[in-house]
Amino acid sequence: MTNKKTTQNMTVFTLKEAAAYLKISDSTLYRNIKKNKIPAKKLGKQWRINETALNNWLMGKSTNPNTVVKLEIKDKKSTNKLRFIDLFCGIGGFRRAAEKHNMECVFSSDNDKFVQETYSHWYGDKPHGDITAFTESEEELNKIDDFDVLFAGFPCQPFSYAGRNEGFEDKTRGTLFFHVAKILDHHKPKALVLENVKGLKSHNKGETLETIRETLKEMGYTLFEDIINSYHFNVPQYRERWFCVGIRNDLIQNSIDSFKLNKGNMNLKPELHSILDNNINSKNAQKIPLFELDRIRYHFSNMKHFENGRVQHDNSRYAPETKKGKHGVYSFLKPDKTLRFHIGDVAKTQIQEAYYVHSNTYAPAIIANRRPKLWDIQRFLTVRECLKLQAFPEDLEFPVSDAQAFKQLGNSVCVAVVESVVKDMLNILDMAQSKTQLKQYG
Ligand SMILES: C[S@@+](CC[C@H](N)C(=O)[O-])C[C@H]1O[C@@H](n2cnc3c(N)ncnc32)[C@H](O)[C@@H]1O
Repeated sequence: MTNKKTTQNMTVFTLKEAAAYLKISDSTLYRNIKKNKIPAKKLGKQWRINETALNNWLMGKSTNPNTVVKLEIKDKKSTNKLRFIDLFCGIGGFRRAAEKHNMECVFSSDNDKFVQETYSHWYGDKPHGDITAFTESEEELNKIDDFDVLFAGFPCQPFSYAGRNEGFEDKTRGTLFFHVAKILDHHKPKALVLENVKGLKSHNKGETLETIRETLKEMGYTLFEDIINSYHFNVPQYRERWFCVGIRNDLIQNSIDSFKLNKGNMNLKPELHSILDNNINSKNAQKIPLFELDRIRYHFSNMKHFENGRVQHDNSRYAPETKKGKHGVYSFLKPDKTLRFHIGDVAKTQIQEAYYVHSNTYAPAIIANRRPKLWDIQRFLTVRECLKLQAFPEDLEFPVSDAQAFKQLGNSVCVAVVESVVKDMLNILDMAQSKTQLKQYG
C-alpha cells in the first residue's frame, strides 16, 4: 500500500517512498531536504517530494524551488502557525512572547528539575532534559519535530578558538552553543532568536561572539543583533541583553539588510513604585536585615559631615583580616536615589559591596542570586513584584520554593522585550514571504 499521489501532473512521494526510490536511507534524504538540496514540503506530518526533484538529484541537477513554493503557499492557509522550539527554556519567556504572536511550541528543553516543574505547571508540557543528548546522532536530531524558528538563551562559555578556517564543529565544540549549532545545521529552520548577557560582546576579548557570528553566517543565516534594555520597554528594570535574530539567507531580500531591531522608547522613565504591591504585609515580604538597616541609617544621619556626601563607616564592625576591615566601607547616595556601598576609597580601587534602590527609581538587572532591596521601604522585592519586573502576568503561581522562583526569574528574559524581538523577526519573514510571492507571480 502506498501513499504516492499524483498532483498537478507530478508524482508526489512520502519521505520513505522517496528514500526507497533513491536507494538511500531516510536520514540521508532528510539531511538533503534540510540542506535544500532536494526541495520538499511538509503537509501535516508527512513530507511530500515530487518525482522531478528526485530525478534531478539523481542526475546531479538542482530543482527550481518554485515547484515546491506553489505547494507551500497553498498549505500556508491551512496551517498558518509558525512552529518553534524553546531551548534552555527556563520559565518560558520566549514561549510566552511567541505564543502571543500565535506561534506554536513543538519542543522544549531544560535540564533543571525545578525549572521543569514550573514550565509544566504553566504550559502543560514537561521540557525534555539535557539538550546535548539530542545532538549525539542524526537519529537523535530527527527526534526534534520539524520547526520554523529556534529560540535559545544559552549559557555563555568561552570557545577554545583555534583558527578561522575550522568548521563550526571544531570551533564551538565543548560549549552549549555547539549543540544549538548542530540543531540549526540539521533542521535549517527559517529563523532563530538568541539571547545572552551584554558581556557576551567582550567575553574572551570578543572572540566568543565572533565565533558565534561566523558559525551562524557559515550555516546560511543573515543576522540582526543589538543590545536591548527592558527599561526602554516601560519596565522599571535596567536589564541590558544581547539579542540576535537570524534569518535563512534564501528568505532575505537585499533591502532588509538595513533592518534594525526595535530598541524601545528612550524617553520612558518607568519607576519601581509602578510594580510595588502596596498591600504587602511584613509576613510575605522579606525585610532588609537589621545590620544593613543600621548602616543605612548611619549613612543618612552622617552624610552632611562628609565631603561630597561619601560616608565612611566604622571599620571595627568588620573582621580586620577581611577586605572590608582592611580597606574600609564607604556609602554614597547617587542623584538617581540609589544608595551604593563600596569597599575602599574612591581614590583607590573600589569594589561595590551593596546596592539599595528607591521606589522612585529602577531596579538593576535581577539575576539568579540577587534581587533588589529598597532602602526607602526597607524590604526586598517579592516574587510577584519580580514577575512584573520580567513582564510576566503577576497572577502566575510558582509550584517551587521562593528561592527557586527568584532564581528562575533572575535567569529569565523580560517578556516585553522578547515580544518586540519576535515581532521584528516576523516582520522580516513577512517581507521575505511577499518577496517569494512577487517572484512567483511577478
Ligand atoms: C539563562 S537560562 C534561560 C532562561 C530562559 N530564556 C527563560 O526565559 O526563562 C539558561 C537555562 O539553561 C538551562 N540549561 C543549562 N544547561 C543545559 C543543558 N545542557 N540542557 C538543557 N538545559 C540546560 C538551565 O537550567 C537554565 O534554565
